[in-house]
Amino acid sequence: MDSHLADVWFELTDLQVSHGSGAVITTTDGVDYLDLSSGIGVVNTGHCHPAVVAAIREQAGRFLHAQVNCYRHDLLERLAARLAEITPDGIERFFFGNSGAEATEAAIKLAKQATGRPGTIVFQGSFHGRTHLTMAMTTSKSGYRVGHSPLPSGIFVAPFPYTFLTGEDEDTAVARCLREFDLLLKTQTSPAEIGSVILEPVLGEGGYVPAPRAFIEGIAERCRAHDILFIADEVQSGFGRTGELFTVDHHDLRPDILVMAKGIASGFPLSAIGASAELMDRWPVGSHGGTYGGNPMGCAAALATIDVMTATGFLDHARAMGERFLDGLEEVRSRHPEVVAENRGIGLMLATEIVDGDGNPDAPRAAAILRHLLHEERIVLMSCGPFGSTLRWIPPLVISEKQVDGSLQALDNALAAT
Ligand SMILES: Cc1ncc(COP(=O)(O)O)c(C=O)c1O
Repeated sequence: MDSHLADVWFELTDLQVSHGSGAVITTTDGVDYLDLSSGIGVVNTGHCHPAVVAAIREQAGRFLHAQVNCYRHDLLERLAARLAEITPDGIERFFFGNSGAEATEAAIKLAKQATGRPGTIVFQGSFHGRTHLTMAMTTSKSGYRVGHSPLPSGIFVAPFPYTFLTGEDEDTAVARCLREFDLLLKTQTSPAEIGSVILEPVLGEGGYVPAPRAFIEGIAERCRAHDILFIADEVQSGFGRTGELFTVDHHDLRPDILVMAKGIASGFPLSAIGASAELMDRWPVGSHGGTYGGNPMGCAAALATIDVMTATGFLDHARAMGERFLDGLEEVRSRHPEVVAENRGIGLMLATEIVDGDGNPDAPRAAAILRHLLHEERIVLMSCGPFGSTLRWIPPLVISEKQVDGSLQALDNALAAT
């Protein structure tokens, strides 16, 4: 036996790392790699941001664990108040968990309790987690679900306008998806059964596809009309990833429940859901909870993370790097139009579609590009989408101009070499 670790984790790389700083990780052999995965969209402030590390160190000397049911540590209310300041108007009370799945699941539990309705509508291609309920809500790849039946019932899947896959223009795709959403409520279920609709404002694992404004507005309007709660899953698209603190800020949208994790604490396991006081008051005391949720170390990390992100210039830099990256990707596309079919995204949540000579998704070529980037350019990059043919650019938001330009050159090299 050469390892005592479970084989269940798929391995993007075989790197053994010892430390990280900013956008760079260093192996135990002392080799540096540019981390364009951010540990799947977590270290938005960069690896080991000094302010976050200092806050965790300081907190570690005071309390490692102060369980919320037993007593409340002094950062809990402070973090909730800070989140109320930075989240959309109307989001004013918070529940804390440890992971994204736990938070999306908490949002659905709150919606069921508050509305008395058992059903949930999700969108084709979404990823909400790996617990049994969130697996049932996830349709980004069948691999997450296959072999785990029976999954919880009461989940209905509505289409999402992924125009690259359907070949429609955006207006046509949005109109069709909204029509089918209405049809779903007439044929598979009914508003009287649906407590919530949960949407990733940018489809993440499913392909890095920003939801068009008209689609988000159409869904939000239908939720209001039927008294269905609108949940925004910003686990991946939140905390500066798309150039605003939350992607809903681009749309001036007020979700009933906002789900946060990943970037919230720069790598310390913490998640949160936020809602109005009126909605949170409908969650019966004792019907939900958890041993570690709202852990003091996580709260310290989150408070420091929020300070870093709200400091002058942080998000401006992220936006500027996002524009530079996307412009650069478009230049690469103009040089390799037969392979790069589309670039898209918002902020530093960007996607590149790799296709074969017939214009079909080309997963082997995408995998070869990732291998080239890793072995020849020392860059860690992931793919996403149903076929694994979409390159997924998700660097730490502190990435420098030089690192962006180097990544684009590396992609050019990878396209030439594969
Ligand atoms: C949008 C979204 N929701 C939920 C999750 C689940 O988060 P976790 O892996 O922390 O359970 C993820 C993880 O990638 C995600 O991207």
